[in-house]
Amino acid sequence: MTKPPPRIVRTVADLRNVAGEWKGQSLRSTLVPTMGALHKGHLEIVRMAKTLAERTIVSIFVNPTQFNNPNDLANYPRTLDADWRMLEEAGVDLLFAPRQHEMYPEDFTTKITVSKVSEGLCGAFRPGHFEGVATVVAKLFNQSQANFAVLGEKDYQQLHVVRRMTRDLDIPIEIVAHPTVREPDGLAMSSRNARLTPQERQLAPELARQLNIAAAAFGRGTPAQDIYQVAHKAILAAGFSSVEYFELRAERDLMPLQSLSEPARLLVAANLGRVRLIDNVPVSE
Ligand code: PAF
Repeated sequence: MTKPPPRIVRTVADLRNVAGEWKGQSLRSTLVPTMGALHKGHLEIVRMAKTLAERTIVSIFVNPTQFNNPNDLANYPRTLDADWRMLEEAGVDLLFAPRQHEMYPEDFTTKITVSKVSEGLCGAFRPGHFEGVATVVAKLFNQSQANFAVLGEKDYQQLHVVRRMTRDLDIPIEIVAHPTVREPDGLAMSSRNARLTPQERQLAPELARQLNIAAAAFGRGTPAQDIYQVAHKAILAAGFSSVEYFELRAERDLMPLQSLSEPARLLVAANLGRVRLIDNVPVSE
């Protein structure tokens, strides 16, 4: 039997009603929070979400409070109809697509700050970004009352911020990480990739390539500063206009590491044309 298309709800009250119905029937749910412009990477995350619980909710909300740059917010792709069709094919049960005033009424004044894990990396270059993420994700968790949430490892610092916020605020939801989904040439899938010119798209996989080269060098015990220098040079030589950071951090708590003393991640952010790309890989001996 083919599944009916996902129901779309636009208000918190309607979302709560559906969540309440499901709870009444002892059905658990998984939330996949997104900002839309869905791609194959999101569909992989949805696939995982469907294995965790009987019901799957996808939220689509381009969250203004996490954009530190108004142009970035204005240019963020909005493709609700196409997204809805993809979610229908993926067999999602519910699409929550609130309007801005539903999430942020005029007198909205609360902000969630998650210190330490939100400092440095993207936090250093995008002031206020993680406050916006933590606040909207806490709202989505409370609104949906989902049992699980799946987030992609591509936004690795975001994953840490959300985990810490959820634990610190005792929100009863289990966060499940999905490994980064990549194009065949290694480029991490992202809604922002659609804004690359064809020429930039050809250059973009260099970021993942340099991460893998550097990860192997850490594994061989090469000093961090030498690795960073080589990587910065190679990324700029490939055609990127700037490298914001290229850093080794502990997987456990995202604190900076100078060497491979524990399981680690190598994280990068770099600008290619008008597009800011981020990526990361696990690093082990
Ligand atoms: O990763 C994203 O798409 C967003 O940061 C999230 C988690 C949906 C919050 O707006």
